[in-house]
Amino acid sequence: MRSLLIFIFVISAVSSRHVNFYRKDYTYIEEYDAFYKFHNDPTGVNFSSTFLACDDEGATLFYPSSANEWKVAKQLMLESPDSPNLTDIFIGMHDKFGLGEYITVDGHPVTILVEQNDNIEDHQCVTMDIETGAYTGSSCVAKATTFRPYICKKIEDVSCPTIDTGYKYMKETKKCYKINKNPKTWLKAMETCFMEGGLLVVVESDMEANVIRHLIDEDNYYAGFRKLFPDKDYYSIKGHKIQDSGYYRWYNERNTEYDCGYLMMDNNELYMNAVYCSTKLPFICEIGVP
Ligand SMILES: *[C@@H]1O[C@H](CO)[C@@H](O)[C@H](O)[C@H]1NC(C)=O
Ligand SMILES: *[C@@H]1O[C@H](CO)[C@@H](O)[C@H](O)[C@H]1NC(C)=O
Repeated sequence: MRSLLIFIFVISAVSSRHVNFYRKDYTYIEEYDAFYKFHNDPTGVNFSSTFLACDDEGATLFYPSSANEWKVAKQLMLESPDSPNLTDIFIGMHDKFGLGEYITVDGHPVTILVEQNDNIEDHQCVTMDIETGAYTGSSCVAKATTFRPYICKKIEDVSCPTIDTGYKYMKETKKCYKINKNPKTWLKAMETCFMEGGLLVVVESDMEANVIRHLIDEDNYYAGFRKLFPDKDYYSIKGHKIQDSGYYRWYNERNTEYDCGYLMMDNNELYMNAVYCSTKLPFICEIGVP
């Protein structure tokens, strides 16, 4: 009973997450799977104040982290009610530590060209031209009476609901998986997953089969299906007949002699099969991240 309560707690804690929503004032852009907010207000007076304003919102000062992401700046500015008559915005790159190299606000080296304007002595910060995506070394202070626009960015923080780093999040299925190579009986495998806050894996779609195919090798892995009653069907541990669980591909003839289900690869295809439950096999745990 106690473990059932823990189980229910885990499921409800996990399902309180929201997808594609961060804050009302942030815009989700699917292409980069991130949330953005365009700022054109007095917090843009200098680099430090932009950094702190983003931090206050639980976000970080934007800089493009993939090839075309600079284009979101113009898109956001056009959508903003008070678009400024300015093309250069503060971005999350600086050399405030005096390394002689720019680094990003989250500590990565800047590998892209930052043009230097020789007339400007103070260029510890970087501005970006939203029309071209070009970077220029600039003063960390906007002009005395005005401020520069900037953008805060929040990356969807998808982490597995466990501190066990063996679990890897897979975006396609919104589940975390852990491959456990230490062979156990079906029940011990199930207990292990359960203690970790998960379950033995239940393959629920062709897409998920594809994800799992890429996680495993040519071994056999216990999964979350078995016979519940002698001479009856195989059921997933989520309570459905295995043929109704979303992915059903049995290896050769379905073998009714054995009770406990496992997954195996043959010719690069993922199949189901069954063995005696006392057989020790590696296994795959899953934790859902709805
Ligand atoms: C940045 O602006 C803030 C707010 O106006 C001010 O308190 C701070 O001293 C400024 N910092 C720098 C480095 O100019
Ligand atoms: C924007 O600024 C430029 C140069 O400062 C100026 O020539 C132009 O008239 C301004 N446009 C608007 C809409 O204020």
